[in-house]
Amino acid sequence: MTPQIELIDVNKHYGSFHALKGIDVTIPKGQFVALVGPSGCGKSTLLRSIAGLESISGGTLKIAGEVMNKVPPRKRDLAMVFQSYALYPHLSVRDNLTYALRLRGVSKAERARAAEEVAAVIGLGALLDRRPAELSGGQRQRVAMGRAIIREPKAFLFDEPLSNLDASLRVRMRKEIRAIHDRLGATSVYVTHDQIEAMTMADHVVVLRAGVIEQQGPPLDLYARPVNRFVAGFIGSPAMNFVPATVVEGGGAVRLDAAGGAEVAVAGRVEGGRRVIAGIRPEHLDIVGADTPGAFALTVGAVEPTGSVTYVSSDDEPEILLVADGATRVRTGDRIHVAIAPERVHLFDPESEAALG
Ligand SMILES: Nc1ncnc2c1ncn2[C@@H]1O[C@H](COP(=O)(O)OP(=O)(O)OP(=O)(O)O)[C@@H](O)[C@H]1O
Ligand SMILES: [Mg+2]
Repeated sequence: MTPQIELIDVNKHYGSFHALKGIDVTIPKGQFVALVGPSGCGKSTLLRSIAGLESISGGTLKIAGEVMNKVPPRKRDLAMVFQSYALYPHLSVRDNLTYALRLRGVSKAERARAAEEVAAVIGLGALLDRRPAELSGGQRQRVAMGRAIIREPKAFLFDEPLSNLDASLRVRMRKEIRAIHDRLGATSVYVTHDQIEAMTMADHVVVLRAGVIEQQGPPLDLYARPVNRFVAGFIGSPAMNFVPATVVEGGGAVRLDAAGGAEVAVAGRVEGGRRVIAGIRPEHLDIVGADTPGAFALTVGAVEPTGSVTYVSSDDEPEILLVADGATRVRTGDRIHVAIAPERVHLFDPESEAALG
């Protein structure tokens, strides 16, 4: 099937600054794609390039199979949803929703019907006569969504639409946006710097750094098989521990430059004697009894209980963090034993930072 959005070797220069470098992304109809990466990596530039608000310097952008490189934004048939809702304050929810239809000359009766339909989708049916000032932040966000939906675009483009909302509302709106996407069978591209938002909402996550795609794929693939240290550190919360280490003779284990030189079994086959960075996710380290096979000892540095889980860090440099059960009772200075399954230890090349083994 023709992809709904296709980027082939897309490049963007701002003068001498190379903002997007050889971007290849294929988005099938119905997919929810998240673009993530640190501030300044090019997320908004990529989204704006798809929308046509930026012209691309090289490569090809197709929407529904047609080359869009030179097509103006309004002819691309896409809807953009921003973090600032940009609602008209003097208009009712109904008139905000149908504004674009009025500009297109759609009749009043038809507009009224469209408003009712969309209001049902976004759950604002009872609020159609209110003004934006009489709505909560989440309700305004829904009106902004509704205004995009009513145009029946080929795709929705979101640029950090939830960053103005408080934490609990963000969590709720994530679910709502995803549910609306599913209900409409829409195609969505969603920019966020919040990797949890990307992981929980998207079918396909694209990780950008400095204008380059570091890795893309289903969220849990990125978590389980990061191709390099950057992706490994970016995906997952709290972040993966990175501990310099040496591979022991035979390649079946690494000796950490921490935890008193503890040896940790690894599944990947890497040449003995070489230096590596061991990547250990905090949630993959279990506190175990001293006699557990493969266990190694840590001295507890800091302990941070949150109720549901307790964060325990070692007194190493760099420290090793682990996520323990909320009922764990340990104190600074305690010796604890921990274990990790060999297949969960990631290894990275210290120079190239590429995944090994
Ligand atoms: N109009 C412009 N002229 C020159 N450079 C620009 C322009 N717009 C963006 N840039 C640069 O391009 C890079 C990518 O910017 P972009 O806005 O896409 O980042 P972002 O990933 O969306 O970041 P954030 O998370 O902070 O929103 C940045 O280094 C930025 O300074
Ligand atoms: Mg941005």
